[in-house]
Amino acid sequence: MKKIKSYEITSEKLYFNRRFFIKAGLTGILSSISSKLYSFHNNEEYRFNYKLKVNDKLNDFNEITTYNNFYEFGMDKSDPYKNSGNFKPLPWSVKIEGLVEKEGVLNLEDLIKDITIEDRIYRLRCVEGWSMVIPWQGFSLSKIIKKLKPLSNAKYLQFETVYRPEEMPGQKKLFNTLRGILPWPYVEGLRMDEAMHPLTILSTGLYGHDLLNQNGAPLRLVVPWKYGFKSIKSIVAIRFVEKEPSATWSTVNPREYGFYSNVNPNVDHPRWSQATERRIGEFKRRPTEMFNGYGEEVSHLYNGMDLIKYY
Ligand code: MTE
Repeated sequence: MKKIKSYEITSEKLYFNRRFFIKAGLTGILSSISSKLYSFHNNEEYRFNYKLKVNDKLNDFNEITTYNNFYEFGMDKSDPYKNSGNFKPLPWSVKIEGLVEKEGVLNLEDLIKDITIEDRIYRLRCVEGWSMVIPWQGFSLSKIIKKLKPLSNAKYLQFETVYRPEEMPGQKKLFNTLRGILPWPYVEGLRMDEAMHPLTILSTGLYGHDLLNQNGAPLRLVVPWKYGFKSIKSIVAIRFVEKEPSATWSTVNPREYGFYSNVNPNVDHPRWSQATERRIGEFKRRPTEMFNGYGEEVSHLYNGMDLIKYY
């Protein structure tokens, strides 16, 4: 029970602890909490560096860990919470491949050695029209990229999720069958300048706790100005490539999901508008902001690009 105590130390977290345990119920939670990966997520000095926008309120731990998209564990929002108890996020290693000096397989501990974990509060906007505000912990992906030393012709990165059908029941559903709509493993990609942007993080925890399985333990991407499907979970490979790599959703359904996937209220999804969103926990929909509200920081990456064509 030591970890519960550490949550109570800072006043920011007091409310979280109570609501989390009351709402979700102890048993479900204990079964989905993985063993501690990194003590720094429970650091008593833990503080958020980022200030919330006036109009934003943090979603609580229960919302963030019970309403998820992680098709490897099933297609319903509660499936990842219910079905991820057998997933083992430790030990973990990541394959580094392609146009990069430091190719090889690295233990997670070695990959993130010497890297300081920071606290980031980001909005996550899903293409289906909902959003959350999440206090992530992680570090800029750029720090890892610099350590790995990409070659000059590495223009894009591709990321891959682990393939373990024995632990991930959704992966037993074959692609193109009624309940199997995605090919495995899940892959995603970023252009090198997007990957190097300081807002792009690899996350290892949230709310002062190691990532739970349903959120992509032990290592997932978070790209706050793009639709949530870019934020690939449980990463086992990072590939440095020259050409735009394939990404799961834009391969399966290119008409509905583009490679760029920038949050854009002016480009509708073919089946629904993207102009508004429902913040989980709120009733009234709110207008969606260009680049999910991170335009000042990231719009220069797309200067001169037609964002209707490159959606
Ligand atoms: N990563 C993998 N491997 N599989 C998935 O199904 N879903 C994506 C993304 N990463 C997904 C994934 C989608 S659609 C969203 S909206 C976010 O994860 C949701 O992240 P969260 O459940 O932590 O909020």
